[in-house]
Amino acid sequence: MSNPNWLARSRAAVWHPCTQMKRHETLPIIPVREASGIWLTDFDGNRYLDAVSSWWVNLFGHGEPRIKAAIKDQLDRLEHVILAGFTHAPVVELSERLAALTGLGHAFYASDGASATEVALKMSFHYWRNLGKPEKTRFISLDNSYHGETAGALSVTDVPLFSETYQPLLRRNLRVPSPDSRLAGPGETAGDVAFKAAAALENVLAKHAGEIAAIIVEPLVQGAAGMAMYSPLYLSEVRRLADTYQVHLIADEIAVGFGRTGTLFACEQAGIRPDFLCLSKGITGGFLPLSCVLSTDTVYAAFYDDDVTRGFLHSHSYTGNALACRAALAVLDIFRDDDVIVANRQRSAEFSAILAPLAERPGIRHFRHQGMIWAFDVDPAQAGFGMAFFRNMLDKGCLVRPIGNTVYFMPPYCIETTHMKHLADAASACLDTMEHGGDLAVNEGIALP
Ligand SMILES: Cc1ncc(COP(=O)(O)O)c(C=O)c1O
Repeated sequence: MSNPNWLARSRAAVWHPCTQMKRHETLPIIPVREASGIWLTDFDGNRYLDAVSSWWVNLFGHGEPRIKAAIKDQLDRLEHVILAGFTHAPVVELSERLAALTGLGHAFYASDGASATEVALKMSFHYWRNLGKPEKTRFISLDNSYHGETAGALSVTDVPLFSETYQPLLRRNLRVPSPDSRLAGPGETAGDVAFKAAAALENVLAKHAGEIAAIIVEPLVQGAAGMAMYSPLYLSEVRRLADTYQVHLIADEIAVGFGRTGTLFACEQAGIRPDFLCLSKGITGGFLPLSCVLSTDTVYAAFYDDDVTRGFLHSHSYTGNALACRAALAVLDIFRDDDVIVANRQRSAEFSAILAPLAERPGIRHFRHQGMIWAFDVDPAQAGFGMAFFRNMLDKGCLVRPIGNTVYFMPPYCIETTHMKHLADAASACLDTMEHGGDLAVNEGIALP
């Protein structure tokens, strides 16, 4: 069966995520037949370079043989077992290894990123309640934050396109300025922006700490905000302020964990340890849904009691799924065996050099880079720029999903020089078309989420 058949069937039967389905009357859905390494192949044989790692989950390329082999092996032993009252080798080993890597024991598992956010928010609130401070019910998040789409997660998310509609269902939390280094004024450094944002946070804490359970941040890069990057100094300041004002620090490394920012976890770059660390996406290399919240001994101890209701009575049916945990163990093996962090440093420098000419173009602002993420803003953006750029890049065999007027690349770590050049050339050709008044714009002013 060819693309049009699958497209028609998918439109009829599948309610696609993050999508106004009516748009697919004109915007084709790409039916993917198979994927290998960095390439997706559709049913007509067209190939697309997956420059967004399939929504930031894929680390080492599609079909990575070692992860595949681990899952197949696990499939013959144990696919899944209830984790309440039972345990199994992959979940124990994964928890031990994550604790050794982060200094945070006590891994609590869920399935997607948003469910990890929910767990961290609930745990933080419940911790304070167990300590006799039930009034600590609110959370602080950053301007332009994104922590997922479930009701709790959405209440600490500041992307109006996603959250506005549901405001009546959401808790009223507090928001503080982002340390986004693009906000630097003339003569200011990223560090200056970080300290200003931290001062604003301190003002809020000084007034409201008594009712605040936690501050939640996306360390170093606010992904959905359009890859807003910021100085690690902000994280150090948040850690200091969280301690001073007795609130938790939740690090949402769902998107930035597992090497994305150049270290295994982004918090390492600030030399801090959060009270809760949320992980997902890359944790299984993009093979299976799994998320995890790691917490400190202090947090864990506050729940450990004879009283059942002081325990954390949260659950998901697939919590600690054995196949997913085994995939995650294979991911950690690859980091160790291939010395991925070091290898990525070289890749990252090479890709930055290949992309450098883009940064010199007129109309390109804030070319930025952190580890294995690159982004730039197109200014002034035409209405519908994101969608138009997306479609034009698809025609050139590249999958990119601009966020508003921000173009970003977040490829799997198996990206090679030829792939990088292909991406850079395709992006450059799209920008050429736009500069020369070509037909880049489609008649839709809606940003690609
Ligand atoms: C920082 C961050 N937190 C949470 C989430 C939600 O993860 P999921 O889509 O798996 O629910 C995302 C997803 O993009 C994210 O980037």
